[in-house]
Amino acid sequence: MGLNVAVLANLKKNAPHYDGMPADRWDDLDSDITINAITAALASRGHRATFLEGNLSLVETLPRLKPDICFNICEGHWGDSRESHVPAILEMLRIPYTASGVLTLALTLDKPMTKRVLAFHGLPTPAFQVFERADEPRDPDLTFPLFVKPSREGTGMGVSGDSVVRTEAELRERLAEQIGRYRQPILVERFIRGREVTVGVVGNLTMPVAWRVPENEQAARVFQGLRFLPALEVDFSKYPDSEGGVYTNRMKTEWAHDFHLFCPAPLDLALLERLHWLTAAVFRVTGCVDVARVDFRLDADDGDKPYILEVNPLPGLYPGLSDLVLEADAAGIPYDELINAIFDAACARHGLSAK
Ligand SMILES: Nc1ncnc2c1ncn2[C@@H]1O[C@H](COP(=O)(O)OP(=O)(O)OP(=O)(O)O)[C@@H](O)[C@H]1O
Ligand SMILES: [Mg+2]
Repeated sequence: MGLNVAVLANLKKNAPHYDGMPADRWDDLDSDITINAITAALASRGHRATFLEGNLSLVETLPRLKPDICFNICEGHWGDSRESHVPAILEMLRIPYTASGVLTLALTLDKPMTKRVLAFHGLPTPAFQVFERADEPRDPDLTFPLFVKPSREGTGMGVSGDSVVRTEAELRERLAEQIGRYRQPILVERFIRGREVTVGVVGNLTMPVAWRVPENEQAARVFQGLRFLPALEVDFSKYPDSEGGVYTNRMKTEWAHDFHLFCPAPLDLALLERLHWLTAAVFRVTGCVDVARVDFRLDADDGDKPYILEVNPLPGLYPGLSDLVLEADAAGIPYDELINAIFDAACARHGLSAK
């Protein structure tokens, strides 16, 4: 007999509405299509899967359902650490769940905090500054062109061709607009001109070390236990110039069904291996488990040097469309198998097996 599984998500159709809400406010939430696909994937292995909306009602619905484990993809609704709310409830109820925990989800939703952790470990991420006001002095080391984006959003929210700024005036204008719209600190980074690649990974590190301290070339680097999916590259040549060679909100929502990409990305072996090491290192130092997707830009002005933009510990799982799903597909891994690989990694971590 399979396990009793609660599939937890925040659906767009159930999301709250309020006056003055930006049109893209819930762009990162999920649809029935994703929930039905996950539920069917789990059922195909004999598990009993029931969807529950991931909000405070869980405190009542979960004790009634008594799941053995939850498949969690909740993005949350409110606050600076919204992705960590449901996992916090699950830990208080002592119910195991898939994918990363409270600390990792709170950390990685905050891009500047994540970058500080990466920088501490000598991992390459673009130079940056965080602005809480549009008129804060700019760090003189941060030179144009720059890239402006919200600190705590996903799905390219706040990202368009206009995110690349080339002058002080453009920077100030964009900062004022983004602070007004997203009501949060705004991240300004060095603009990395070049190719864009994302690497998905499923599983868990079984050996303790995935990254050497930067100075110690001799120390072991191990990524045993992780299964890398083929790298995916966005084909910017197929998108209009208005998008500015970046992976914009419009490409991820309005045009999501008409995507253009290379998967596997045409990368030479040394570069691919470097991306794998960096992905494993990011996975480890940010405390990810079971699954993640790490986004990179390759600096065209510095021999395709990879820079880490961010880590997504709850990557989109929309069948046939989300980057992670397309990567799995390129490896010959069908959707059902991808979902069950994430699920099995979590079960192994929690010592759960089908009865
Ligand atoms: N410093 C940068 N230099 C160049 N392009 C950038 C930079 N930062 C972000 N971008 C572009 O903006 C896109 C979105 O940025 P990022 O991945 O940080 O945001 P996101 O909205 O959290 O993405 P996701 O949809 O993966 O959650 C990137 O995929 C990239 O195309
Ligand atoms: Mg991203």
